[in-house]
Amino acid sequence: MSSSAEKGEGGPFRLIVLASGNGSNLQAIIDDLHGRDGIEVVGVGSDKPDAFALERAQSAGIPTEVFPIEDHPNRSARDDAMADWTKGLEADLIVLAGYMALLTPGFIERFRNRVINVHPSLLPSFPGLDAIGQAIDAGVRVTGVTVHFVDEGTDTGPVILQRPVEVAPGMGRDELEEAIHAVEHALLPEAIGMIATGRVRIADEDPNRVIIDQ
Ligand code: GAR
Repeated sequence: MSSSAEKGEGGPFRLIVLASGNGSNLQAIIDDLHGRDGIEVVGVGSDKPDAFALERAQSAGIPTEVFPIEDHPNRSARDDAMADWTKGLEADLIVLAGYMALLTPGFIERFRNRVINVHPSLLPSFPGLDAIGQAIDAGVRVTGVTVHFVDEGTDTGPVILQRPVEVAPGMGRDELEEAIHAVEHALLPEAIGMIATGRVRIADEDPNRVIIDQ
């Protein structure tokens, strides 16, 4: 089974990015991919009206939309609205780039194997909030970055790419965070590029395994 997200004949490969905060990963996507090799970021969505990611998108001329939970009766209604917006933009792939709200099962179901996430650890180690702090507290020598398909769990779903980051002796949190961000900014665009060119698929015999065609 091929991932259903791949560039069709003719039209561009259409990305939606969801982000809750600073948006440095969104910036890496804009700088590396947007408007190149048939890839377009067609929308940036956020649950946080004050997310700096929205300003980054606007500076790049990318339409934005905000879905604060306060504007909806519940999470499910909010995610339905976000799914309708995504559908309307005919997104091929939805990228969670520091999107910190858990998507509802209804949203995941509508875009099965078309939602990916970047997470600052080597999953399944340190899922959830503050993965970098969790790694420091655990005293690990190596942590890293994972890009994975999103399923109904918290930072679960088939792994697409992982890259290690060494925790050098005496390394502080800021230094580790900087090293992890640098790896994210390379790994996430790399994974998106591979999906856009149809090189990423879920194994027929094992829905938890991703196969990357060279
Ligand atoms: C990134 O480190 C990303 O991996 C993390 O949030 C940060 C967002 O940074 N995401 C998660 O922890 C998701 N579980 P950014 O807003 O500068 O891209």
